[in-house]
Amino acid sequence: ALPAACDFTVFGGTGDLALRKLLPALYLRDRDGHLPDDTRIIGVSRSELDDAEYRDDVRAALAEHVDADRLDPDVLDRLLRRVHHVRLDATAPEDWHRLHGLLKDRDAYDDAVRVFYLAVGPSLFDPICRRLEEIGVTDAGSRVVMEKPVGHDLASARSINDAVGRVFEESQIFRIDHYLGKESVQNLLVTRFANTFLEPLWNSRWVDHVQITVAESLGVGDRGGYYDQSGALRDMVQNHLLQLLCLVAMEPPTYVGRETVRDEKLKVLQALRPLTPADVERDTVRGRYGAGLVDGVPAASYADDLGHADGRAETFVALRAEVQNWRWAGVPFYLRTGKRMDRRTSEIVVVFKEPPHAMFPHSEGGTTANRLHIQVQPDEGMRLHLTAKEPGPGGIRLRPVSLDLSYATAFDQASPDAYERLLMDVIRGNPTLFMRRDEVEAAWSWVEPILTAWAASPARPKSYPAGTSGPIAAAMLLERDGRTWQEPD
Ligand code: BG6
Repeated sequence: ALPAACDFTVFGGTGDLALRKLLPALYLRDRDGHLPDDTRIIGVSRSELDDAEYRDDVRAALAEHVDADRLDPDVLDRLLRRVHHVRLDATAPEDWHRLHGLLKDRDAYDDAVRVFYLAVGPSLFDPICRRLEEIGVTDAGSRVVMEKPVGHDLASARSINDAVGRVFEESQIFRIDHYLGKESVQNLLVTRFANTFLEPLWNSRWVDHVQITVAESLGVGDRGGYYDQSGALRDMVQNHLLQLLCLVAMEPPTYVGRETVRDEKLKVLQALRPLTPADVERDTVRGRYGAGLVDGVPAASYADDLGHADGRAETFVALRAEVQNWRWAGVPFYLRTGKRMDRRTSEIVVVFKEPPHAMFPHSEGGTTANRLHIQVQPDEGMRLHLTAKEPGPGGIRLRPVSLDLSYATAFDQASPDAYERLLMDVIRGNPTLFMRRDEVEAAWSWVEPILTAWAASPARPKSYPAGTSGPIAAAMLLERDGRTWQEPD
């Protein structure tokens, strides 16, 4: 339920995430009248800013990141009146009275739901949570939001989860994976479970394999410092790609509830076949972009983006996974993600088996396997690839055709940004679309042997020119199995 009052505190209030994603999302929800009337938005940072100066920064960020036709001066003023800034160094105990003073400075502060959004590096999660408890601003109704990555391996994820869990109950902890807030990702569940025709086919009997691609044309930009410590496996696969895999592979829960969906996703993560060092060698590929052309424009190499040649991170990963359960036994799930690729796309392709019997052996054309192509972004939609008879008086000539669903034409409203949905879920206290502790740790458990084997290997990530579909080894990963990555038609 929507609380009557909310204090939404963002640690890292002047950071990129806050200004580019969180404040625009809060503005847009305010515009539609969805924020509790009595909402304050408190940006916390080490900058010497008073409220007025911070409001100027927020105003500039909204002008940049919200479409001009959605910027309404009255709503903007209302939102800016909600905004405050608190200067605070999270590690300096003497600074915290400022936040304490502001949070307690409310007519009816007992009623306000307090959200603490940790848009800062994970090393600050523990000190911030401790201090919040010490200054007495947490209660059973408070919520804490953590950005991914939660940790950089299983042990650090556990220790962060322990630290945050000392102050907050699991039901108060919201671990964001913004992919779960995307409309097209939620639609995956609806497509699978609110229709009858797919379910009987959604298993190893009829599905040949599944491909999940999250490609970006951008490079690391100015996030090199973070990114080089992380790399694509930690930044994308451990969370976004495995979450997509879970939604494709999970069993139907009895209903969509705050724990039921997460229970089913967890079972998928636990069923992933553990990789031995030999599996890692054979079934994973890591790459790093070199200079190249993206959309005809010259793009620098990873080393140039980073500013030095000692970079460690992979900017591309492709791998082959298997879900060892009744439904999916023997069906490969091929995952790939990369920066500076030839296009920006997130898509899931379920490739079905060929028909069991070739009925048209002498016809021209031949059959192609059916495929369900789910376009997560951009241009959300779905395409079902079929084989049809080409019209004509002669013999039978087969042709690939597709049934297309485009969100933009099927619905005449634009999809909200993932953060709009997720921030409202936090304010309302609905954790369904957030990662539970056991999920995050199960995902790390599966990823960790890859991290270990890569760290121990003398091999370096394979180079690929910017603006391409990644290293050749990624294509070979499928060719070896007699398959190919599905590229756009
Ligand atoms: C973030 C990663 O989680 O997701 C970024 O840290 C990546 O490296 C981003 O660029 C991609 O998100 P989206 O929504 O643009 O696909």
